[in-house]
Amino acid sequence: MNRFFSKRAAGAKRSAIRELLKLTEKPEIISFAGGLPDPETFPREELAQIAADELRNHYENVLQYGASEGSLTLRKAVSRWFKTHGLEVSVDEMLVTTASQQGLDLIGKALVDPGDVVFCGLPTYLGAIQAFRLFQADLVGVPLEEDGMDLNVLEKKIAQAKADGKRIKGVYVIPDFQNPTGITMSREKRIRLLEIARREDFLIFEDDPYGQLRFAGERIPSIRSMDTDGRVILLFTLSKVLSAGLRLAILIADTRFMDVFVRMKQASDLCTSKLTQHLAARFFLDYDMEAHLDLLRRRYRAKRDAMLAALSRYMPEDEGITWTRPDGGLFLWVRLPEGIDTEEMFPRALEKKVAYVIGSAFYVDGSGRNEMRLCYSVVTEEKIEEGIKRLSEVVREELARSRIGGFVG
Ligand SMILES: Cc1ncc(COP(=O)(O)O)c(C=O)c1O
Repeated sequence: MNRFFSKRAAGAKRSAIRELLKLTEKPEIISFAGGLPDPETFPREELAQIAADELRNHYENVLQYGASEGSLTLRKAVSRWFKTHGLEVSVDEMLVTTASQQGLDLIGKALVDPGDVVFCGLPTYLGAIQAFRLFQADLVGVPLEEDGMDLNVLEKKIAQAKADGKRIKGVYVIPDFQNPTGITMSREKRIRLLEIARREDFLIFEDDPYGQLRFAGERIPSIRSMDTDGRVILLFTLSKVLSAGLRLAILIADTRFMDVFVRMKQASDLCTSKLTQHLAARFFLDYDMEAHLDLLRRRYRAKRDAMLAALSRYMPEDEGITWTRPDGGLFLWVRLPEGIDTEEMFPRALEKKVAYVIGSAFYVDGSGRNEMRLCYSVVTEEKIEEGIKRLSEVVREELARSRIGGFVG
């Protein structure tokens, strides 16, 4: 069969996370692996009421094909809501996509030629790695610091890429509560990144699923809101703020990009489901989005607090183990001492009935072997405590094993 596959398909890898996640699905395992939103945050009663009304009274519209650009009602509703958050976006700068994963796919299709350099965080979101790789981007990793991407290293890598005669297409960033680390890019770095992009004439792909889930600290404006020459393409998904199952996001770009994006989307799926677009639009119009988001923020803050408390209670911090303390989002990131391999440790964690995602899955250069992502959003607070206790036992055993290994070796 292999002879029939396209070169592109033959090069595409299955997501390592999805393969590992299959092993964590047993009910007895406390899983910090999947990056899912808490289903209790989905406004099911409200959506059920809207759905009943839309299906009964507006079936000729919502069960029909729609415009490839997306529902005007949804785009208008989101545009108005963005305004209350300091982001001026016209409906012509918006394309509704089948969630942000499709946005990433369209960016790849419309903008990336084989060999084009796209810079990304070390580590970064695995789905973006998959999407850019499919279009044969040359993904170049840039390490993260506590306040986001190390821009001095980025400058060096730009110089290197230019010296090698490569074409730089853009940089992919998740400025707020990044997946997988929970790290937020500082305002200063956002401004400097934009300056670098202007100077070098490349694009910024700003992916923002978590910015609205800030439960501590002060909101930092998006890079897109500081953009004056249309070089930032922003992806805003409703997956984490409303429902992942609706499969809805808005791709925001300068109108000069839109025609191409619309053509790419038409070739992919003609249009995004009108039914789900209208469910979301009506939620924005008929309900209080801010009150809804406040509930989410409170819920996720309590879970983050539970995980941080459990980590400081059980994890042997003095052994050189560190973790991030995110002000929002769904994840935190643990770094174990060099020499501990979280992939090798994974089966032993499963034996103790706890799971995480291995760090190296998020690194385009295969590093990060001593790191792991913990997601606190779907597990109850009691289970977070128990899960971290189990994980700490696994880590202690691993540390002991590495000491013995070191002595013998
Ligand atoms: C940074 C980032 N981008 C994109 C996505 C994809 O989300 P969706 O396709 O549901 O919008 C996720 C999901 O976890 C994410 O963390």
